[in-house]
Amino acid sequence: MVTKAVIPSAGLGTRFLPATKAQPKEMLPIIDTPVIQYVVQEAVDSGIEDILIITGKGKRALEDHFDRNFELEEHLKLRNESEGLEEICRLANMADIHFIRQKEFLGLGDAIRYARHHTGEEPFAVLLGDTIFDSGVPVTRQLIEEFENHQQSILAVEEVPPEKYSRYGMVGGRRVSDKILEVEQLVEKPGIDESPSSLAAAGRYILTPGIFEAIEMTQPGKNNEIQLTDALRELLNRENILAFTIEGRRFDIGDKLDYLKANIDFALRRDEFAEPLLEFLRGIPDAGGGEE
Ligand code: UTP
Repeated sequence: MVTKAVIPSAGLGTRFLPATKAQPKEMLPIIDTPVIQYVVQEAVDSGIEDILIITGKGKRALEDHFDRNFELEEHLKLRNESEGLEEICRLANMADIHFIRQKEFLGLGDAIRYARHHTGEEPFAVLLGDTIFDSGVPVTRQLIEEFENHQQSILAVEEVPPEKYSRYGMVGGRRVSDKILEVEQLVEKPGIDESPSSLAAAGRYILTPGIFEAIEMTQPGKNNEIQLTDALRELLNRENILAFTIEGRRFDIGDKLDYLKANIDFALRRDEFAEPLLEFLRGIPDAGGGEE
């Protein structure tokens, strides 16, 4: 059973400066809801009961977001704003949420190392705090279902075009079924000619506790950081790892264009915004709707 999740959210978010100079990128809103809240909701909707968020310098807003705010609650009560009140109270009770600070920005592999005492001998889910999906079944639930069948570490992957290989951990291996690959190669941010396939790690994982030993053995790699991709390659020496092609559309919020796309995608799925937004988009000259 997978009941615990780790959400690394300590990164500096340099691709999104200046917005991330004084606020965490995980707090950037998609319409009216911070990215981290979508990530926590996905974990909860996948049956996770216990969440550890890895934070760091400048990330206090993440803790405040999931804490009670009595002053605000009183204010909303006095003004009879029951909808807002319900929503902010719900946030403080979404799950059993814990926080730990990554002391130095040494990479995603290093961030996950901080979960060791919390997750112990159990397999656990990892959800990158800056990645969200538009999917029917929550992506973490898709992964957990596969994990229950195989009891091996499993990572979410998606097809990406060659120009994006250098942004992700790229995965190659032996196809076991339509959606499952037995992982044989893992390369962090390769050049177009160095990628083992067009499958990229998509920011969701179920990991066995063996990953911690593997992280300890991993040397700093790309950007001088302890990369999770490199740690998984280390784990591959001892355990099988599977890759699962998920159903859903991924948005890497740390990327400005993906962030814009996510806002439009999520807004088009909300009744109050869909029609007026489409009308606005169609009305923009040269936006594809001008000739109608
Ligand atoms: P990214 O690879 O997007 O790195 O991290 P980053 O530092 O946040 O962003 P850029 O590249 O400078 O713009 C993927 C996820 O891993 C977390 C991030 O917070 C993000 O959710 N992370 C990354 C950590 O928790 N610690 C790290 O040292 C690095």
